[in-house]
Amino acid sequence: MAETQLDVRGIAKPDAYRALKEQFDAVCEGVTDPVAVMATMSCLLHFGFGHLWTGFYRRSGPAQLIVGPYQGTLGCMDIAFGRGVCGTAAQTRKTVIVPDVRLFPGHIACDARSLSEIVVPVLDVRGEVIAVLDIDSERTNTFDEDDRRELERWVEWFAHPV
Ligand code: SME
Repeated sequence: MAETQLDVRGIAKPDAYRALKEQFDAVCEGVTDPVAVMATMSCLLHFGFGHLWTGFYRRSGPAQLIVGPYQGTLGCMDIAFGRGVCGTAAQTRKTVIVPDVRLFPGHIACDARSLSEIVVPVLDVRGEVIAVLDIDSERTNTFDEDDRRELERWVEWFAHPV
């Protein structure tokens, strides 16, 4: 196989997302398993951008999330809907961007080095929340509207697999 890792740090963010998405499309061509896709997205986004934590919490009950495929430091196990940033995104079905986690009441600190965060809800074809995509950064103010737009596009895979 040719290049398997792509370092997109230093490239303008939309270009970086585009390059990573091309790699995702090539690696996941014909793949229908959502866990395999979550693992692949986590890896590409994590090592592409060099974040602290990149991964998924999957729905494990009517109002409960459990840690799923991820890259990074140890993630906490269970998060209830409505709790922390992940639970808020799951409950509201809206992307949450937190420029400074110290100012987000109820933020769950799995790693004290995490200073900013974005959480994107993942919906299936029926519009049900099946997971959230969570990315944590060691710097404040890491995530913006470019990340929201791009990541919401990435998780559309789960509503229209393949
Ligand atoms: N900070 C998240 C918890 C998950 S970890 O950061 C990996 C939250 O507040 O929901």
